[in-house]
Amino acid sequence: MNYKGVIFDLDGVIVQTDRYHYLAWKQLADRLRIPFNETVNRRLRGVSRMESLEIVLEASSVSYSQEQKEALAAEKNEIYRGYLSRMTPADVSREVLLVLTTLKTSGVKLAIGSSSKNAKLILRKVGLEGFFHAVSDGTNIVNSKPDPEVFLAAQEMLGLEPKECLVVEDAVAGVQAAFAGGMDCAAVGDAAKAHIATYELARFSELIDLII
Ligand code: BG6
Ligand code: MG
Repeated sequence: MNYKGVIFDLDGVIVQTDRYHYLAWKQLADRLRIPFNETVNRRLRGVSRMESLEIVLEASSVSYSQEQKEALAAEKNEIYRGYLSRMTPADVSREVLLVLTTLKTSGVKLAIGSSSKNAKLILRKVGLEGFFHAVSDGTNIVNSKPDPEVFLAAQEMLGLEPKECLVVEDAVAGVQAAFAGGMDCAAVGDAAKAHIATYELARFSELIDLII
């Protein structure tokens, strides 16, 4: 086995909730008449809700109080949770499920390492509650990616050393977080296009040969 543990990012890796994040921010930005597009959205991947809001508001001429910002973040989260409420186990692709079950039955320890405070809700909606050996998410960290905190917490929960773990990420900030924590990283999507990770996955199932 090349790695004893794998720490998966959630949004944009296990499920395509990154699309829902985009749509929810877009709806808020449109209401506030702030320009928002995929280029700005790319900077929000892996970053906490409040830090994401600050990035969205960079293009605004209005200056908001802390209280107003909290309300805007809550408004975005309401819209986002509207999308989450419609999720089902069918939102996990067969390929992702195959990789997860193959690794687990081979004795690899599996964790989630996500900046999201909605991670446990998503896992429940898609039928993966209790599947992972550890879940480290936005509720147990102070600093979000690119800080390694969420991955270091996951690796500790698994009882492994950083070098024994592989992180799987779709965010540039996530790859940076993995490296900052001393872990190798396999990239999909946006992060793969940035050519900064240890491995770039053309297909998710390539993980099986990489790990076992
Ligand atoms: C990350 C997403 O997983 O979670 C970010 O990539 C998001 O885009 C962050 O901002 C926080 O999510 P939540 O669900 O707590 O607002
Ligand atoms: Mg992600």
